Amino acid sequence: MARLFEAPDWRTYRMSYREPHRQLEPLEREAALVGRALAVLREAGILPHTDYDHGKMLAMRRAVAEAFEIPWTAISPRMQRLLYAINAIAQPQNMIAAGVFCGNTFISNAGAAVGPGACYRARHLIGVEIRPNEAARAERNVRRIDPSGVARVVAADAVDICAGFPEPIHLLYLDADGGPEKGKGIYLDILLAAYEKMPPGAIVLAHNSVNSAGRLRHYLEFVRDRGNFRESVNCILDPEGLEASVR
Ligand SMILES: C[S@@+](CC[C@H](N)C(=O)[O-])C[C@H]1O[C@@H](n2cnc3c(N)ncnc32)[C@H](O)[C@@H]1O
Repeated sequence: MARLFEAPDWRTYRMSYREPHRQLEPLEREAALVGRALAVLREAGILPHTDYDHGKMLAMRRAVAEAFEIPWTAISPRMQRLLYAINAIAQPQNMIAAGVFCGNTFISNAGAAVGPGACYRARHLIGVEIRPNEAARAERNVRRIDPSGVARVVAADAVDICAGFPEPIHLLYLDADGGPEKGKGIYLDILLAAYEKMPPGAIVLAHNSVNSAGRLRHYLEFVRDRGNFRESVNCILDPEGLEASVR
């Protein structure tokens, strides 16, 4: 059985996809709930501790609100904070984010290492988006807050990028939607392309562990199998959810 963190109000904590910057609750409550999720990740051995710089997370949030063109997003403020915190704590040298759309999910992860929220130096932070127009917009968005180029977006199939990546993958973030046939079921294809490159301690994060649980059934069975991943936690802070698993 997978471990679970459930915010008591996750069913009623709802964002509007077209108003991503609207504050939904007092920041103290948001930080406290995310802190409780991080504590479960620490207990599971997925994270070494739960400390991150709240001011830098807010600096990343402000920069995204000012600089990014976001037609819509399903990343709630709680999810944005959780993704930032996991990356800030785990400090992956190489991170690949699959299915980044306009780049908001990507920067929620990469923003721990680039731009005004940076708290460590990474080697490669790669966002992958299969639709060229969306990849171009995501790249434009990211460039506005990361002139360094450490974080970049490529227009490609995430399966190919993971299969061809020449270095260890320390954190893999999954958010690709493979169309009517596969849907979010494509997560398992992407993970399998990356799996052998993920060293012990590497983390995979899967968005939509709640609202796409049906399409993710095979993926969730794979990461919750202790023969494949040491631990896996379903973090339910909002109606989308995030499954976090460690090799
Ligand atoms: C639903 S969007 C993710 C949106 C994100 N959850 C947010 O709230 O901002 C999924 C994206 O995955 C992309 N995608 C689908 N298959 C892909 C693949 N094989 N490799 C890379 N991107 C892919 C789609 O083009 C789409 O932009």
